[in-house]
Amino acid sequence: MQAAVHFNPFDPGFQADPFAFYRPLAAAGPLHRTRLGVWIAVGYHECAAILGDSRFLRDHSKVPRRGGRHDPENRAVQSAAMAMLNLDGAAHDRIRGTFSPLFTRRNILRYQDEIDRGAQALLRHAEGADRFDLVRDFALPLATDTIKAMLGIGDCDSALIQRFTTDSVIFLEPVTPTADELVQAEQSYHRLAAQIAGAIAAANDAAHPLHPIRTRVDEGALTADEAAANIAFVLSAGIDTTVNLICAGYLTMAAQSVAAADLANEAVINELLRLSPSIHMTGRVAAEDVLLGSSMIKAGSLVIVAIAAGNRDPLVFSNPDAIDPHRKGPVSLGFGAGRHFCIGVHLAKLEAAIAWRHLLRHLPPVGAGAIEIEYERRAFIRTPRRVLVRRGGADGGPTTVDNGR
Ligand code: HEM
Repeated sequence: MQAAVHFNPFDPGFQADPFAFYRPLAAAGPLHRTRLGVWIAVGYHECAAILGDSRFLRDHSKVPRRGGRHDPENRAVQSAAMAMLNLDGAAHDRIRGTFSPLFTRRNILRYQDEIDRGAQALLRHAEGADRFDLVRDFALPLATDTIKAMLGIGDCDSALIQRFTTDSVIFLEPVTPTADELVQAEQSYHRLAAQIAGAIAAANDAAHPLHPIRTRVDEGALTADEAAANIAFVLSAGIDTTVNLICAGYLTMAAQSVAAADLANEAVINELLRLSPSIHMTGRVAAEDVLLGSSMIKAGSLVIVAIAAGNRDPLVFSNPDAIDPHRKGPVSLGFGAGRHFCIGVHLAKLEAAIAWRHLLRHLPPVGAGAIEIEYERRAFIRTPRRVLVRRGGADGGPTTVDNGR
């Protein structure tokens, strides 16, 4: 039997280079049991198999967590439990089916010009400044304005949506939030849910993006609480991951000297998506004993699916850390796979491609400015808090600040 491995994404140094932690695991095999008893898949095929297998559930509610259980009375906890990502089977499909028409490729393309104008306006605004924060000055307002426009909730407070996005990410992480974090999440959810309820009530017009959701609530197919919880979830999913993707892609382009003209090639965009996933890891719980390869994963076991590692599996992608526009590999797992495959994939790809194109045109060439990066101390969702680009700054590669809590 294979020995249990050490893997702790809260180790110092993980934020600066998580791939340095995945690589030795991948070299030792595609699937491991850690010393904490949790499984971790780092091989591409193993990650894809787990995500596509309905015996691995998203609903973690019955699994004891490090540090105890969530407070079930907390409204933010209740809303996270109603979010489609945390549901399985028919309960999941009912909610997802209500929201998926909003996110078809055809519908998303209607927002292309608006995203393009938004990106250009933000960069024009920052022109001339000697310091540019990719998160605060660009990616965050762009992602917020875009998802608000898509949901037709222009009146909702952007700062509140961003606050909730930051507060609620704790529910996607593998440790139990602190009491303070739970209070904070509940407060921001409480205020946001009130604004969302107002937006749903005002969606009388059949052309309003939220009208189909309001109709489902009126028909009794969806409760008002489920609608609000999932609109809040879609808002936070659409902001956090997109900001991370725009920043991670920019850093990959900077490191690998990608030029604006290269982005006309869709294969380069796909490589950026493979190399720069926002969601580095996700979790599943085995509903029954499952034999995966030669490993028996016992019912109730927690399984970490290391998407970022699977996307660089050297057995599947040769020279895995490099952008190779001629690569003939399977599709990247950056947007997940199976039932929970990202509903926002078309929007995320469109936004990222537009953002990267404009960024490469406006920001100084790599090496001409210093990039300083500060990450949130998170395990699953790789979140830059600040990506500071100094025009005409010192030469040299990016410096990373590990933001301890
Ligand atoms: C731009 C707007 C986005 C929206 C509105 C959005 C929304 C969602 C939603 C609602 C789900 C859950 C789907 C379900 O359970 O059926 C999901 C899953 C997922 N999303 Fe996105 N997302 C967006 C962007 C992104 C980006 C930029 C990434 C990464 C590059 C990403 C990666 C994922 C992954 C990996 C999952 C699956 C998680 C799992 O199965 O555990 N998403 N997304």
